[in-house]
Amino acid sequence: MAQSKSVKDYIRTIVDFPHEGIMFRDVTTLFADPRGFRMAIDQMLHPYAGVQIDKVVGLEARGFILGGAIAHQLSVGFVPIRKKGKLPGTVISQDYHLEYGEAVVEVHDDAIEAGEKILLIDDLLATGGTAEAGIGLIERLGGEIVGCAFIIDLPDLGGRKRIEALGMDVHVLCD
Ligand code: PRP
Ligand code: ADE
Repeated sequence: MAQSKSVKDYIRTIVDFPHEGIMFRDVTTLFADPRGFRMAIDQMLHPYAGVQIDKVVGLEARGFILGGAIAHQLSVGFVPIRKKGKLPGTVISQDYHLEYGEAVVEVHDDAIEAGEKILLIDDLLATGGTAEAGIGLIERLGGEIVGCAFIIDLPDLGGRKRIEALGMDVHVLCD
């Protein structure tokens, strides 16, 4: 009998995107498959059964796709953390370094209330810079992060250790 596919089996790697030397993990193939997408959402949520979560926060851009589905599943609200200049209201900002560049992320300053329990979602941990910036924004608004869930961790880039060193619970599905 054929082995059933795992989440990792639905993800493809594109060589030299967006720059030479980057092995880009492309989750669009996972998102496009109904079984794969549902499996990813279910597995990302698995450790948080019975845990109070007031809001899901997603990191642009693929964290929006996952975070929206997860918020719907939990029947809670969704908050986007966006790249600089995209959010229309009053924001707070955080600089960070990427595997292939530098950027600024922002969140609306009224999107999270002090004491709210937050689940942070993105597709991938590389250096951990994006997630660390997101954590900084959530904590500046007084949010309490109950977990940070990702589909992929690239262990050679150290993101998981970096985020765990901040005292975060990190949940990843595959490398
Ligand atoms: C990717 C990925 C994470 C981030 C991880 O997003 O979706 O958000 O990189 O890298 P890091 O751990 O080194 O910070 P990207 O910056 O490519 O933005 P996009 O999703 O808007 O294309
Ligand atoms: N973000 C940072 N590094 C990445 C990679 N190798 N694949 C996909 N997204 C990324």
